Amino acid sequence: MKITVVGAGAVGATCADNIARKELAEELVLLDIKEGFAEGKAIDMMQTATLLGFDTKIKGVTNDYSQTAGSAVAVITSGLPRKPGMTREELIGINAGIVKGVAENILKYSPDAIIVVISNPMDTMTYLALKSLGLPKNRIIGMGGTLDSARFKYYLSVALNCNSNDLQGFVIGGHGDTTMIPLTRYATYQSLPVSELLDEATLAKVAADTMVGGATLTGLLGTSAWYAPGAAGAALVEAIVRDEKKLFTCCVALDGEYGQKDICLGVPVIVGRNGWEKIIDYKLNETEQATFNKSADAVRNMNNVLAE
Ligand code: NAI
Repeated sequence: MKITVVGAGAVGATCADNIARKELAEELVLLDIKEGFAEGKAIDMMQTATLLGFDTKIKGVTNDYSQTAGSAVAVITSGLPRKPGMTREELIGINAGIVKGVAENILKYSPDAIIVVISNPMDTMTYLALKSLGLPKNRIIGMGGTLDSARFKYYLSVALNCNSNDLQGFVIGGHGDTTMIPLTRYATYQSLPVSELLDEATLAKVAADTMVGGATLTGLLGTSAWYAPGAAGAALVEAIVRDEKKLFTCCVALDGEYGQKDICLGVPVIVGRNGWEKIIDYKLNETEQATFNKSADAVRNMNNVLAE
């Protein structure tokens, strides 16, 4: 099994590191456009192999897609990250060109690859990949809700003073500070609805903190986060290569599900060897559906920028 990660920056390198530690592939190719950068990261990571005890061979390459040939999964993290004060949406122009070119090059050498899109604005980049590549929709997965849901569970664990692994919670909708929707009504702690354990104001604060979770870190770090985004990307790769049939929120093409069409948005899906395999229909109430529709409108407006 071979896996490719494009972009050897903060998120791509962290994702690759997680993939190697979990031994998800015999061969992992890390590709970047910056001369020597992916090579350097790959060698540094390979020098942890005897310390961490993994057996994945990591190869760094500068823009040579022939080296990625035969990859089962390709993760796209190439592109600019946001700086403090920037929204993910402001990255659209530059990242659209990068993501389209990268995805085309990947498919040239790995026609059967499942594509995981991480570059921002991720919902629009996923839609761009869907429209430009002509692949079956199940093979294009945007990573955003997986991260946002992990952040949601982190903030819930702080509020409840509990282990976040005992929590279930999903963030659906767009992967933007104002477009994501933490589904507080469906969040549970050991099967108990968290709404029975936290008062309304605390739960509202958890949701609000989740929504600006990325911006909070960008403010602290001076650039966007990488540990959780990289781990979230690797978790999706793991679900694919191990055919886990695990439930994640991913950005996928909707064709009437959740009342939306011709758009890629975050919804709960089963992820396995074929990519995203099934959409799980959480029954939204009227307020949640209205918020989901608003989120879709905002993402659709961004998608329209692609056509301009
Ligand atoms: P970074 O700047 O550390 O790394 C990006 C890398 O992409 C750089 O090494 C750059 O040389 C490379 N690159 C640029 N153009 C390329 C091309 N045409 N081909 C190959 N490589 C190319 O940025 P970071 O922090 O790793 O973020 C990467 C992207 O992921 C950003 O767009 C960021 O906004 C996004 N992101 C998305 C998240 C999500 O949940 N979907 C979470 C965090 C970041």
